[in-house]
Amino acid sequence: MEIDIFTLLPDAFAWFERQRHVVRALALGHRLSYVNYRDHTPLSAGQVDDTPFGGGAGMVLRVDVVEAALRARYGRDPIALRSERRVIALTPGGRLLDDPLVGELARGPSLTLLSGRYEGFDERVLENLVSDQVSIGRYVLAGGELAAMVVCDALLRRLPGALGHDESAVEESFSEALDGGPEYPHYTRPAEFRGWRVPDVLLSGHHARIREWRLAQSRARRPGAGGSLP
Ligand code: 6GU
Repeated sequence: MEIDIFTLLPDAFAWFERQRHVVRALALGHRLSYVNYRDHTPLSAGQVDDTPFGGGAGMVLRVDVVEAALRARYGRDPIALRSERRVIALTPGGRLLDDPLVGELARGPSLTLLSGRYEGFDERVLENLVSDQVSIGRYVLAGGELAAMVVCDALLRRLPGALGHDESAVEESFSEALDGGPEYPHYTRPAEFRGWRVPDVLLSGHHARIREWRLAQSRARRPGAGGSLP
């Protein structure tokens, strides 16, 4: 998987790149690359944003700057690019990121993520230069960098081999193994603490019964089942 992240703050990803599953994914040959819009602006003095037409607060990322950065990276007209490559703008109003979307992205050979800053992108970027828009929730972040890390985190840990063999993405919340349901509860030592006991079935060593109990727990936690998720 090759992921290109367009951002004004490539340094913001240094911490992310040190995370274990990310290190592992990169060692397996997956790639994370960064393109700084500022390195490709056609404007003097490194300008990348501008005040909104019609007035109002904040600054807007310019369409000519985003276009130039895409063109420099891919060596072709960005209008054609979006029909061949997933080019996603990270926007608060985009398609909500969920497990099916993460799976869809993880199956692709490549991905381009555009982070915005300030008030966001000139609308013509969204209309003409991207294939879709993704949001990580209905709230506004100061920039798309955290959202890009969220997308990459969720995606990279789904790639085969990115998790250690003692970790597993097969049977976790929202996975197919649990039929899209939430994960069952986990416990570890001590078996009793302040009177809080681990369910006996988990200490029984009876694998079939443990499995049955876990699936039942997952089902009980489904939305509408009176469980703990809304
Ligand atoms: Cl993708 N970007 C920004 N700036 N804010 C967000 C978001 C994205 N998703 C939720 N809030």
